[in-house]
Amino acid sequence: MSKVYFVGCGPGDPDLITVKAKKLLQKADVVVYSGSLIPPQILKICKKAELHDASGLVREEIFEILKKNAQSGKLVVRLHDGDPAVFGTVREQTDNLQKEGIDFQIIPGVTSFLAASAALGLQLTLAGVTQTIIVTRAEKRTKVPSGEKISELARHKSTMVFYLSVQLLSDIVKEALRGGYLPTTPAAVVYRASWPDQKIITGTLQDIVKKVWAQKITRTAIVIIGDVIQPKSYEYSKLYDKTFSHGYRKAKNTLDPTK
Ligand SMILES: C[S@@+](CC[C@H](N)C(=O)[O-])C[C@H]1O[C@@H](n2cnc3c(N)ncnc32)[C@H](O)[C@@H]1O
Repeated sequence: MSKVYFVGCGPGDPDLITVKAKKLLQKADVVVYSGSLIPPQILKICKKAELHDASGLVREEIFEILKKNAQSGKLVVRLHDGDPAVFGTVREQTDNLQKEGIDFQIIPGVTSFLAASAALGLQLTLAGVTQTIIVTRAEKRTKVPSGEKISELARHKSTMVFYLSVQLLSDIVKEALRGGYLPTTPAAVVYRASWPDQKIITGTLQDIVKKVWAQKITRTAIVIIGDVIQPKSYEYSKLYDKTFSHGYRKAKNTLDPTK
C-alpha cells in the first residue's frame, strides 16, 4: 500500500530534528515542505528529493503531488514546521489521502512552544503554581469556539500559550485581564525560538505590548502568560523528597541524621 509520511522538523534549529525524521528525509524521493519556517539546513538533508515549497500552492495542488507520487511508489514526505499535529493542516490531508486508499504515518517534531519555554529557561508546570498548560490562539480570521474565549480560559490562571497571535497581543492582554489575571502577571514573547535571530521579550501584562511593539515583532512568535515565568514561590516536587516513598525508592528515615 502506498504511504505518505507527515514529518515534523522542529522549531528551526536543525539539530532539533528527530533521528527518524532525518532518516526519512535522506531517503525521500519527494518532499513538500511548509515554506519559510523550514530552515535551509534541513532541506539540505534531502539528498535526492524533488522539493516543493507548499507556501505557493493551494490544497488541491499539494494533494495532487502527494497522491501522484505515493501512487507511483515514491517515498513521499510532507514536511511541517514544529510538530504536524499542532496548528497544522494534517487532518485534511490524511483524510483525503485515505479516501484514495493511501496510508499515512505521522512523525512528531519539537513544537515551537517547547522551544520557546526552553529559551526562557522555564518549567511550564510548577507545584504550588499550576499543573495545567492551555495551548490556544487569539481569534481573527480563524474563529475560535465560544467556550474557548481567552477570557474564559484565563479564569483558570494556568500557564497559557498562544500560537499565531503575537499581532493580537493587546487583545490577548485585555482578555487575560478580563478573565482574572492580575496586571502584574508575568508574560513573555519568543520570536523565532531556536533560530539564530531568536528574540526574547519578558515583562508583565502591564508592559508586554509596548515592549513587543518596540521590537516590531508581528509574526512567528509564541506568547506565554503565567506565574511560572517568574514565580513568587513554588513547592519542591514530591518525587525527590526524602519523606516520600514511591515505586522505585523508599522514604529515607529523616529522624536518623546519618541517612
Ligand atoms: C501554523 S503554526 C505552526 C506551528 C507548528 N506546527 C509547531 O508545532 O510549532 C505557525 C505558528 O507557530 C509559531 N511558531 C512556529 N515556529 C516558531 C518559532 N521557531 N518560534 C516561535 N514561534 C513559532 C508561531 O506562533 C507561528 O505563527
